[in-house]
Amino acid sequence: MTRPPLVALNGIGIAVPPHVVTNDDLSRTLDTSDEWIRERTGIRERRIARADESLTSLCHAASLAALERAGLGVDEVDAIVCATVSGDRRMPSQACDLQASLGALNAAAFDISAACPGFVYGLTVAEGLIAAGNFRNVLVLGAEKLSTIVDWTDRSTAILFGDGAGAGVVQRASDDGRGLLSTFIKSDGRLAELLYIPGGGSSDPVTEEMAKGRRQYMRMAGREVFKAAVRAMAESCDVALSRAGVSAEDIDLLVPHQANLRIIESTAKHVGISMEKVMVNVDRYGNTSAASIPLALAQAEEEGRLKRGQLALLVAFGAGFTWGATVVRW
Ligand code: ACO
Repeated sequence: MTRPPLVALNGIGIAVPPHVVTNDDLSRTLDTSDEWIRERTGIRERRIARADESLTSLCHAASLAALERAGLGVDEVDAIVCATVSGDRRMPSQACDLQASLGALNAAAFDISAACPGFVYGLTVAEGLIAAGNFRNVLVLGAEKLSTIVDWTDRSTAILFGDGAGAGVVQRASDDGRGLLSTFIKSDGRLAELLYIPGGGSSDPVTEEMAKGRRQYMRMAGREVFKAAVRAMAESCDVALSRAGVSAEDIDLLVPHQANLRIIESTAKHVGISMEKVMVNVDRYGNTSAASIPLALAQAEEEGRLKRGQLALLVAFGAGFTWGATVVRW
């Protein structure tokens, strides 16, 4: 049975760095090619932030755009929930740095570390905060400056990732049926070492020896991640659809995490949704982890592929492993 939504996503805003790095650009310093990258991943280019372009500045621009769309002032934000694994500083949270930059002084601010499904995790947390009754306007962000945690000498990962930020305003749903019809999040920490950063934390703190071993950068077992991702995306879609009481035929647009075109295609096939109803922009941005879903949502809205009242299925997986999905009446 479909339950009425508790909360709605009322406004998405995004920001990406202007600097475009193409596959050909990468092949100048790495033993790779445009053809290999396009065939294996679907990626053509990605945005890479300059050193002086902070994640806070990207989050700031995305937040202002989202707030404007929702018709909300910064003073009205009660909570800032930022999903990221590449914040500007280890301490304080990215959300607190963003709060200061926005001047959103009536908000509680904290981060979520859930990697690529971070935005879906953020929506789920926002739903809980609002349902408990103490919060009205929650700003959820998925934002990454992955270029700072990528090993630019490792061709098996450097080709995949990009930078960007997306923000959404989550508020109590009105009675028009729009909002989150279901949420599902899950993790399996046993799979951590398939995709992780070994150094820089308290178990392997920053030292010269750590940096020499390049342990501050992301490591990934690509093939294993691929297989686990396909399974996790499928489970997420199945549970979110079932919890929402809707079927794949009811979905107007599938908005999957943009990691790899082959994972997206396999997810669409599993759910039974044709590729015409699947949002794909991995070609433009690569994998932007937590920013991936809001970047895809914003583009879908702008292109008229996701209109008010339509049903979208958002689904993602990532390091942890973490995964999740939500069915949203837009
Ligand atoms: N250019 C050229 N050749 C390459 C490159 C490259 N950039 N990278 C790897 N190769 C080579 C390998 O060395 C290997 O060569 P070999 O056969 O001589 O040993 C060959 O290509 C095949 O390598 P595989 O790793 O088996 O290639 P695969 O088809 O699995 O593609 C990829 C690799 C694209 C990484 C794929 O496994 C993948 O997409 N995995 C999922 C990754 C992912 O989604 N990660 C992020 C998820 S979570 C998050 O978003 C944070």
